[in-house]
Amino acid sequence: MAEALDIAPATGKLGILTPGLGAVASTFIAGVLAARAEGKPPLGSVSQNAHIRIGKREESNNPLIRDFAPIASLDDLVFGGWDPISANALEAARTAGVLQESDIAPISGEMEGVVTMDAVFDQRWVSRLDGTRVKEISNKYDQALALIADMEKFRIDNECDRLVVVWCGSTEAYQQPSAVHDTVAAFEQGMKDNDDNISPSQLYVYAALQSGVPFANGAPNLSTDLPCMIELAETRGVPIAGKDFKTGQTLIKTIIAPGLKARMLGLRGWFSTNILGNRDGEVLDDPENFKTKEESKLGVLHTILQPETYPDLYGNIDHVVRINYYPPRGDNKEGWDNIDIFGWMGYPMQIKIDFLCRDSILAAPIVLDLALFMDLASRAGQSGVQEWLSFYLKAPQARGESEPEQDLFIQQTKFKNTLREWMGEEAVTHSEAG
Ligand SMILES: NC(=O)c1ccc[n+]([C@@H]2O[C@H](COP(=O)([O-])OP(=O)(O)OC[C@H]3O[C@@H](n4cnc5c(N)ncnc54)[C@H](O)[C@@H]3O)[C@@H](O)[C@H]2O)c1
Repeated sequence: MAEALDIAPATGKLGILTPGLGAVASTFIAGVLAARAEGKPPLGSVSQNAHIRIGKREESNNPLIRDFAPIASLDDLVFGGWDPISANALEAARTAGVLQESDIAPISGEMEGVVTMDAVFDQRWVSRLDGTRVKEISNKYDQALALIADMEKFRIDNECDRLVVVWCGSTEAYQQPSAVHDTVAAFEQGMKDNDDNISPSQLYVYAALQSGVPFANGAPNLSTDLPCMIELAETRGVPIAGKDFKTGQTLIKTIIAPGLKARMLGLRGWFSTNILGNRDGEVLDDPENFKTKEESKLGVLHTILQPETYPDLYGNIDHVVRINYYPPRGDNKEGWDNIDIFGWMGYPMQIKIDFLCRDSILAAPIVLDLALFMDLASRAGQSGVQEWLSFYLKAPQARGESEPEQDLFIQQTKFKNTLREWMGEEAVTHSEAG
């Protein structure tokens, strides 16, 4: 049997802070509060609903993940966040229009009590939004210090034992890393010099890591994936994960593509388009913000299909992704996929998918699971990139130079085997002997 990690127990309260308290964050908070009130696990969350096999099949040992690994209990969670627009989680939920009033009413008092802190916000990075609840501090280093002070105050006021941050803020405009992102020293100097290449979301990452608080990035913009942040996470001994919650069309893509490849069916083209009308859709209507999202969405097929290894099947793919802002749909996105495949003797076939999904309903359980598992990783003494959580992410970070794994089923195996190893159990190989 493998040796278990020495994992500190999940005693006391865990504060989950979200920079960005919009549709996703308010739906996440509402779902946890409702589940707590009803005494039922929230649906869609792997940490709360999934079982994990331990040992050989014939041992029939299949506990719930939450009973197997010492993750924090839902009863011990406290919520907070920053937003330049929303005043509190109740207002955010009502504005987002994801949940019905009948679901919000029983928890409205608690939702109203989740009051946002003033944001570090700059319209240069999210041109479609006009924020008023913004810190009036002009220097970026001072802004980072103010975020550090916010976290400390939240921790004390709410008597939290630990904190974790999950970025649920808007997608920032497209950006390439620059010299200021190379090292922690360059980044610190850059903040003091108000370097134009430093965006608000990067200040939140810096502030969290300096405070020893794990940080997961749910949006596709640069943040935990910058070299300076990876260095800071490793030197401070803090877990990071990113980026971009794997929901909707990309979730389906990473379910279908491994299936096609498993049976050696060829792919000639994949056209994905969708309509959505929430604030996220409005932000992504700006070409610079959409470009950030497009990069993250386009990356997924390559590592799954391995065109270098299978040039005849996957060497010539047209992959197109479109997002169209269409207000009448609100958060209820509709995504269409047209997949042109081919099989025996090269005969073409088509697959059409019409996914009438709900963006925030798919993203909310990911926020919960990332927060709980990042906290677990921290208590298990882990630091730097948490590859095992790529299961939840559209453009996952990998350690070092290796390519990120995109296949949902390989990601799931890695996720469960990591939990088994940490708890001192053997990895499950699914071989005839296993
Ligand atoms: N819902 C999904 O399926 C999904 C999937 C992947 C990624 N995402 C990403 O998650 C993020 C949140 O999505 P959403 O639907 O809740 O969007 P939203 O627009 O409803 O909420 C985002 C919130 O972030 C706030 N914000 C913007 N800049 C900020 C800053 N600097 N500091 C603090 N707050 C800031 C905005 O005021 C807004 O309230 C987006 O970046 C989105 O692209 C969502």
